[in-house]
Amino acid sequence: MAKSPTITLNNGKLMPILGLGTWNSPAGEVAQAVKDAIDAGYRHIDCAYVYENEHEVGQAITAKIAEGVVKREDLFITSKLWNTFHDPKEVRGAFEITLKRLNLDYLDLYLIHWPMGYVKSDELFPKNEAGQHLHTNFDLLDTYRAMEELVDAGLTKSIGVSNFNIRLVTKIVDNSRIKPVVNQFECHPYLLNKKLREHCKSKNLVVTAYSPLGSPGRPYATAEDRNILHEPKLKAIAEKYNKSPAQILIRLQIQFGNVVIPKSVTKERIISNIDVFDFELTDEDIKDLESFGYTQRACVLEIDGSHPDYPFHED
Ligand SMILES: NC(=O)c1ccc[n+]([C@@H]2O[C@H](COP(=O)([O-])OP(=O)(O)OC[C@H]3O[C@@H](n4cnc5c(N)ncnc54)[C@H](OP(=O)(O)O)[C@@H]3O)[C@@H](O)[C@H]2O)c1
Repeated sequence: MAKSPTITLNNGKLMPILGLGTWNSPAGEVAQAVKDAIDAGYRHIDCAYVYENEHEVGQAITAKIAEGVVKREDLFITSKLWNTFHDPKEVRGAFEITLKRLNLDYLDLYLIHWPMGYVKSDELFPKNEAGQHLHTNFDLLDTYRAMEELVDAGLTKSIGVSNFNIRLVTKIVDNSRIKPVVNQFECHPYLLNKKLREHCKSKNLVVTAYSPLGSPGRPYATAEDRNILHEPKLKAIAEKYNKSPAQILIRLQIQFGNVVIPKSVTKERIISNIDVFDFELTDEDIKDLESFGYTQRACVLEIDGSHPDYPFHED
């Protein structure tokens, strides 16, 4: 069974550097995926309110604890505050829904999922008749302060952010009482995000790389989009190490010093995606993987990006 090493966060807590992603992991499959992952040695699961599958993730965690395969304290569970809960008064309630769905009594890490707030609604993506997102403009520092109170209450061990750009990371780090430990954002050879990675490191945040495989299964991929897994240079490196292209992409993030959270609901892939701790890419391999010369962002969330804190107009 493979075992992921840990990284020490700026508050002294340990975080396994490899975790299982659960976005797009369908009902009826995600619980088995989480069980397979825990059996394969994963101790870190990346969840979110908006994935609408936390209930099943929680069932799998509960089952593995009941079987005696793991104890709660062996696991590192992350979830995220959805955009409809940016009002500081809503933060605790949103957190408690997630905690209940996951059937846990604390989280290891809770992130602000995106910098853009949406009006409170039963819809995850409330829009007006013209199809525009119904944004709110709560100051992110106020939302973050409500997250700090979750740490004070012992409900989450650590807090952080996701999809925050350099300006927004700086704003939170420089004005917070409890520092964010992580910024989670997209990172793979089509979106290297080097400046943002370096900025996070300079501010003592660990980077969690999402969509490390370029998110080939994302529901809105178009026929023109490229699939990193098919890149000839990647395939050549994979052959050299007798590894799969996915294992090389996961290893790349680890050698960047990032935490990485590949998603799969396929047992063989779940097992092989964590089998990345017995080889090392050379500097030359890494240069090759950084040289595709093509940019593609898998996760834009909003087409028009009209919110003042929409993160991807900068950096
Ligand atoms: N914070 C955010 O805003 C944000 C945004 C996006 C993602 N995330 C997190 O990051 C996680 C990972 O990102 P992602 O789900 O976008 O994409 P990803 O991990 O880059 O790719 C997942 C896709 O690759 C396939 N796959 C997995 N292992 C493979 C392998 N060994 N060989 C070939 N294909 C393989 C999966 O298929 P099967 O499942 O069918 O095996 C799935 O279609 C998410 O699940 C989520 O937890 C966070």
